[in-house]
Amino acid sequence: MEPLLRVSDVSKRFKVRGGHVSAVDDVSFYVQAGDTVGIVGESGSGKSTLARLVLRLIEPDTGEVVFDGKNVAEARGAGLKELRRGMQMVFQDPYSSVNPRMPIGGNIGFPMKVQGFGKREIRDRTADLLDQVGLHPNHASYYPHQLSGGQLQRVNIARALTMEPKLVVCDEPLSALDKSIQAQVLNLLRDLRERLGLTYLFISHDLNVVEYFSDHVLVVYLGHVVESCPAKDLYREPLHPYTKVLLSAIPSVDPDTRTEAQALGGEPPSPLDPPSGCRFRTRCPLAMDICAREKPALREAATGHSVACHLFEERV
Ligand SMILES: Nc1ncnc2c1ncn2[C@@H]1O[C@H](COP(=O)(O)OP(=O)(O)O)[C@@H](O)[C@H]1O
Ligand SMILES: [Mg+2]
Repeated sequence: MEPLLRVSDVSKRFKVRGGHVSAVDDVSFYVQAGDTVGIVGESGSGKSTLARLVLRLIEPDTGEVVFDGKNVAEARGAGLKELRRGMQMVFQDPYSSVNPRMPIGGNIGFPMKVQGFGKREIRDRTADLLDQVGLHPNHASYYPHQLSGGQLQRVNIARALTMEPKLVVCDEPLSALDKSIQAQVLNLLRDLRERLGLTYLFISHDLNVVEYFSDHVLVVYLGHVVESCPAKDLYREPLHPYTKVLLSAIPSVDPDTRTEAQALGGEPPSPLDPPSGCRFRTRCPLAMDICAREKPALREAATGHSVACHLFEERV
């Protein structure tokens, strides 16, 4: 079955003062309809850039994005409109994506208005969406500043769902919320997935959340995918040294398996001047000579489990 989303060899560099940042470097992955693919990595690893490339908010330098059988870069006019409807995004900051001068109802109804829906249809669908995300229909008349961050993120989720998208891209949807609210919003996203059969690209810096929420996980480091595997394999058998460090930073509840959290050694390298070869080598406890010379390719080390690390390359 052709996946809903296929990202092939996509790269994006930004020109900045003092040179270039290669934010996303030769990234490939796919998302099957109905699945959740999680992307995890520290701040600055290129996650948001990747999301923006998928949604064609920015153009890649190389590579292609195929969504629902169509090359995203070639979409024009009505085709582009349909594509935009099919992919929606929930951003980190719940305040950044609502119009503060418009009541919640207007914010949710706006995409429908643009699509030419009637007044009554918009009102009914808005009430239904508010209900779906655990808010009250009366919230339609509130203004954004009258809602909490968690409520506003529910509004953003409702708005993302108005046009019945095939793919919802969530870019750190919990990061700006209070700890106590994060689980509620995560549960809402999970319930909606079950109820509506949603497909998510779910981005987070929190490996715990990604592992819990996703079917498949991509671990990214400075614009590279370093590991790609089913979520259940991530805990059971992490392969990349970076993934192991990320996992060890999560305290285990089981005292028998609790290990000393391994801190990431060294400074994070400057994205302006990333290390040669493997970009993780300057912080890797197992770095070898070859790691400075050659960039490790992402290779399948076990069925469905790929890793980009010289430790796992077959030597001839
Ligand atoms: N518009 C831009 N111009 C210049 N540099 C950018 C731009 N967007 C992102 N970057 C750089 O690209 C890298 C990846 O950023 P980003 O995709 O936001 O990472 P993440 O979402 O994982 O934190 C960072 O080094 C960031 O500074
Ligand atoms: Mg980001």
